[in-house]
Amino acid sequence: MARRASRKKPARGTTARTRKPVDAGPEVTDKRVFTAKTADRHELYQLALQSPELGVHFLALAFEKVRRSKATHLREDFCGTALYAAYWLRRGKEYTAEGFDICPDTLAWGKARNFDPLGSDAKRAQLHLKDVREKSHKPPQVRTAQNFSYQVFKHREEMLAYLRSVREDLAPDGVFIMDIYGGPDSMMELTEVRQIDAGFTYVWEQASYKPGTADYRTHIHFRFADGSEMKRAFTYDWRLWTLPEMVDLLHEVGFEHVDQYWETAAKDGVSGNRVFKKSRQGKNWRAWITYLVAYRAFP
Ligand SMILES: C[S@@+](CC[C@H](N)C(=O)[O-])C[C@H]1O[C@@H](n2cnc3c(N)ncnc32)[C@H](O)[C@@H]1O
Repeated sequence: MARRASRKKPARGTTARTRKPVDAGPEVTDKRVFTAKTADRHELYQLALQSPELGVHFLALAFEKVRRSKATHLREDFCGTALYAAYWLRRGKEYTAEGFDICPDTLAWGKARNFDPLGSDAKRAQLHLKDVREKSHKPPQVRTAQNFSYQVFKHREEMLAYLRSVREDLAPDGVFIMDIYGGPDSMMELTEVRQIDAGFTYVWEQASYKPGTADYRTHIHFRFADGSEMKRAFTYDWRLWTLPEMVDLLHEVGFEHVDQYWETAAKDGVSGNRVFKKSRQGKNWRAWITYLVAYRAFP
């Protein structure tokens, strides 16, 4: 989780972006030997960055807090391998999901690795090889965009068009949940390294940030015990949107409410403790990941 810091007490170690947003991620039962030659970049990504069980739990709970009822239909935008959608199905037979992504290879990997093992339960999900601005098959109660992927929309009009399409496509009781990364460290050109329990090293490189445009180029690399490295396994060309900008845009497209969930401090006062609480201001940590939960006033 994030190391955070006041200006007086600089944090050590990783930035928020190098951690998983909600929990410690898929359980690691046995150490495997990964090398650059044999490892699969999607598997490494899931192990290093995604936290499906607790992440999905957060989505379900955030909906329940707002609507005092249970959501059963999820839409995962920029779903990649659609790991969250797959875990959503595991909640019960009444749960259904849709995933949207424009990368055929990544979707195919997700289908084979995350859905095929679910057998006939996988039929409760639909993976769409489509842009996130396309309509859902069924209006979602929970719609989510994770790991900051929406930052691919660099221009205000583009972002508004996306958020408007989200708002218009939600079920009447629907809730939109996105994560956001910020804090002074997020704008620095730096490299952070984190050892992953499964047996490899995750490297997050903030390669460039242009203050005039917020153009933001980042890479993920993986390093292995045998000395090999998978360089630039993933590259992102984003705009680093700020939290108040995103809140304003969400209001502008018609979400009356945008709740913020900030991570609270661990006993050391420096790191986060993985507990997210509603707050209107947050704390000025050096780096943070926060959730925005946007919804309409219920009709
Ligand atoms: C950072 S990955 C996110 C993977 C996963 N959702 C996660 O939470 O970690 C970004 C994904 O967004 C997809 N993508 C980028 N632009 C898109 C668009 N306009 N519509 C749908 N998918 C898009 C890419 O193909 C890629 O799989």
